[in-house]
Order: sequence, then structure tokens, then C-alpha cells
Amino acid sequence: MKKDKSLKKIGVITSGGDSPGMNACIRAIVNTAWQDGIEVVGFRHGYRGIVEDFVQPLHPDDMRLVSQRGGTFLKSARYPEFREDDVAKAAAKNLTKHNVDGLIVIGGDGSFRGAYHLEKFWDGKIIGLPGTIDNDLAGTDTTIGFSTAVDTAMEAIDKVRETAEAMARVFIIEVMGRHAGFIGLHAAIASAAEAMIVPEMEPQPNLSELADNIIQARTAFPDSSYIVVLSENLWPGGVHGLAENLGKSTGVTCHACPLGHIQRGGRPNAQDRILAMQLGNAAVNAMLLGSHNVMIGLENEHVVEVPLNLTFERDKPLDQRLVDLQLSLQGVNIASKEANKTS
Ligand code: F6P
Repeated sequence: MKKDKSLKKIGVITSGGDSPGMNACIRAIVNTAWQDGIEVVGFRHGYRGIVEDFVQPLHPDDMRLVSQRGGTFLKSARYPEFREDDVAKAAAKNLTKHNVDGLIVIGGDGSFRGAYHLEKFWDGKIIGLPGTIDNDLAGTDTTIGFSTAVDTAMEAIDKVRETAEAMARVFIIEVMGRHAGFIGLHAAIASAAEAMIVPEMEPQPNLSELADNIIQARTAFPDSSYIVVLSENLWPGGVHGLAENLGKSTGVTCHACPLGHIQRGGRPNAQDRILAMQLGNAAVNAMLLGSHNVMIGLENEHVVEVPLNLTFERDKPLDQRLVDLQLSLQGVNIASKEANKTS
């Protein structure tokens, strides 16, 4: 296929919650575009930067040392105002004023909804790249930042585990994910948690089940730790509510530990850097070949294009094999102790 010679200038934004790897992705976009003589400009603070004209030229010289840093040097923002037609029209006007022919949006589902909305008012090309720690976009196996966030959660849980084990305590650890259980599931498996509560579980574990399990574990292993991984936005009163409820039901003090925004920060791991650069490079090449209104993702290790709306209109299920793995492993210690007693 022939390259589109009319593509002279690409705009880039990072939007919504930042994720480790966004900087590496910008590097790949800038360096790939440069090879075809395409100019790249960033707009700082996501969509707000397009509307308010926070424009920043991007050149390969400035990209040498960005890939290893977390966050996004272009800054990001939540910008719900972008749902309004007038705001999106103002963005379209500014993109035209700056002679931008194509826009690459690195972000999550809210950012892609924004891109889909902008498309009604602007005739440039738009490509989305999946940048969110939540991994909740359909059409890609993984998203930029997810792997690092899981590593961060796992390392934090490992640390809590050491003190919990030393003091024989029960901890309820809350991880991020907005309304998706990917971080919860992966962090629970990686940290060998005794229990997991993620939004996709049907039925959801109930209080008496969880409490019974803690009591059984305390009986079998009175001087050991017990860790529950809980996804955010699930339990009434969150992690503190659950810890209190469990404390009352079991008579055992349960400690609440929300991991919070440390999961979004930190240097991207190798997997996220490589993914980010692969997708950034693919986005520019796809735009040059005429792709528009799509997300570029990775499925079965292949770069794929997915219509933008299908990334946020469809649910992305957890891998049931991983859910089953966690559920089958998490109770085995107690069961084996019981079996030892009776044999
Ligand atoms: O970016 C995704 C995410 O970290 C979610 O996991 C979390 O629910 C949300 O963002 C928190 O957003 P904010 O930092 O705007 O409070």
C-alpha cells in the first residue's frame, strides 16, 4: 500500500490516568514520524491542552532519555468537559489552526470516547493507543502500563506479607482497576494471596464465606499471615469497610491497606517499554497507510487494529483460566492441613 504523502504533521496527547510506558510510546511516535519527514507536536495536559493551546514541538533529540521514566512528560488530565460539543469543536479548530493532519491519543476508555467524539467535528485522522494500568480495553490483550502496575502491586504486597507474617496478621489489600479486576487477579496470583475479590467474580464472595475462611486459616496456621486482595469500588465502605466487617465476624483484627496511586507511578518495566514502542511505531505507520478511528493493540503477539468504539462498547472479560487457577490454589494450604490431621 502507498504511504499518504499529505500526512505532514501529527499531534499527540496522553490522556486520563497516566500509565508507565507513555513516555516510551511518545518516543516511538516521534522517532518513527521523523523517518518519514513528519513533524510531531504534543499538546500538554491531554484534551484540555488541545482546547487551551498548550502546544509543544517534539523532536527526536528530546526523546533520548524519556523512555525509562514513569508518568508522562506531556502531562495528562481528566477532562469531562470534552463531552460537550462546543469544547470538542474548539479542539478541532485548534488542531486545524496548527495544521495537524492526524492525532494519536494515548489513554484509556474515557480518552477513546473523547477521540470518537472529536471525530464528528474534525476531519484529521485519529488513532488511539491503549495506555492505562487497568487493562480494561477490549481488542487488545494488554495495555501500556498494566504489567508495571501488576509488578508494583505484587512488590508492595510482598512487603506487606513480610510484616504480616512476622506479626501473624490478616491484611485486606485494595488494588486499583476502576471497575475491572485485571490488576486484582494478576496481583493475587503473583503474591499467592489467600483470597481474592474482583468485580467479575460470579457470585461475589460473601462476608460469612470470607470470615469462615479466615477462621479456618487461623485455626490451621495460628502464627501465619493471611492476605485478601480486593479490587477498588467493590465493598461498601471499601477496604476499610471490609476490614471492619471481617474483624467483627471473625474476632480477628483485620488490617486495611489501600495501595492507591503508587500503582500508577514508577519506571515502566521492560514489557511495557517494548509494548509502548511497538504500538507507537505501528500507529504512525498505520496512519501513513490511511488508518483512521481505530485503536492499535496487541492480540496473540500481533499488532491489530480495532474500531475505536469497539474498545469501550464491549466488555473485556478476565481470563477464566487465571481466575480458576487462583481459586484452585488459594485454599489448598488449609485443606492439606485438614487432610494431614485426619490421615
Ligand atoms: O488510570 C486508571 C486508574 O488508576 C484507575 O485504576 C483508578 O480507578 C482511577 O484511575 C483513579 O483515578 P484518579 O487518579 O483520577 O483518581
